[in-house]
This record gives sequence, C-alpha cells and structure tokens, in this order.
Amino acid sequence: MSIVIAVDGTAASGKGTLAKKLAAHFGFHYLDSGALYRLVALGVAEAGKDPHNEADAVAAAKALNCARCGDPAIRTAEMGVGASIVSAHPAVRTALLDVQRAYAAKAPGAVIDGRDIGTVICPKATAKLFVDATPEVRAHRRWLELAAKGNPPEEAAVLADIISRDERDKSRAVAPLKPAEDAVLLDTTDLGVEAAFAAALAIVEPRI
Ligand code: C5P
Repeated sequence: MSIVIAVDGTAASGKGTLAKKLAAHFGFHYLDSGALYRLVALGVAEAGKDPHNEADAVAAAKALNCARCGDPAIRTAEMGVGASIVSAHPAVRTALLDVQRAYAAKAPGAVIDGRDIGTVICPKATAKLFVDATPEVRAHRRWLELAAKGNPPEEAAVLADIISRDERDKSRAVAPLKPAEDAVLLDTTDLGVEAAFAAALAIVEPRI
C-alpha cells in the first residue's frame, strides 16, 4: 500500500490547510474529499433538483466532473449545507468511493482530508489526524474566508450553519463524522496556521 495521510475533522477546523501543507511538505498528492460532495450539491442545484432526494443526488454524483474541484461556486455557504445533505445518502457515498480510493493509491503518497477517510475510505492509512476546534473559533475562521470574498453572511448565521452541519455529519447512519480509533486528535482552537502545522508534522512524521 502506498502512503496515505488521512486528515479528518469538523468543518472549518483547519484540516484542509493542514492537509495541503502536509502534502507540499512530503511531496504527496492532495485530495479535498469535501470538494467532491460540494460538486455533487452544485450538480443537483444546477439541475434544479432536490438534494434531499437520493436518486437526484446519485445522478449528480455519477456525472461528477473532478476538473471542477477548483470551481469557486462550490465554496459558498449554501454548497456547504448542500454537501452535508447529499453526503448523508449512502448511495452517494458509494458512488464517490472509487475516485477517493484511486487517489489514495497514488505514488509516492497522498494526503486526503474529509470526514471518513480514516474510518471508511482508508482504514489502513499510514497516519490519521482528527482536527477540531471550538464551534465559535471555526465559525470565525469561516466568516473571515467568506468576508475576504465580499458580502459575507452574519457571523451568527455562519456559526448556526457550522453547528447544524456538524450535527448532521455526526448523526448520519453511514460514515458518521467521528475519529478513527487510531487517529490522533489535534485541537487547533488556540493554534495559528504555523503552530498547527508544526503539531501535525510532529504527529505524522514519525509514522511515515
Ligand atoms: O470539508 P467540507 O466542509 O468542504 O465538506 C462539506 C460537507 O461534505 C461536509 O459537511 C460533509 O457533510 C461532507 N463530507 C463528507 N465526507 C467527506 C468530506 C465531506 O461527508 N469525506
């Protein structure tokens, strides 16, 4: 098996930033699995369909075009909510399994961030991190990101979104958000980017 670093965690915990920095550090491939679910939500929205309808969401998952992973249209608060709705459908998760496992097999290694990478997608990952921070700190970070793009929603609305998204992600029947038994927890509440990266590296490096 090639090297896989699984970086799971809550919304806006900093897991994406950490995963990208780890990939750059080790010269590994990087996959943001949340972008896949966001793309499914965007596909459903563009087709004028309902994300709660499993068949509509599966159709969008099967038509997924990974080349659009960088599309800014998936980065909105609406697509974050849409992603957490479509991702609760078991058949959507199944439809996205192969693309994620193919990524995990890339040489010389891959860093994948998400919610179920260490538990479901790559249970034998070389190293597993579970990143979290208080909801208030995460909401503030997400609000800063949205504000940088202009016209942000109220911070209280961002916090409410994050809390309900965590709740939906943790309570779904299939692949719920939870740390793998062998994941190392990393709380980034009081850590800036560089301190969080140093902490992540200290956990991951001895396992590589
Ligand atoms: O990480 P991001 O916030 O972009 O993820 C959007 C949503 O996609 C999450 O709230 C979650 O519901 C879903 N997701 C998932 N499994 C993953 C990655 C994301 O269910 N591996």
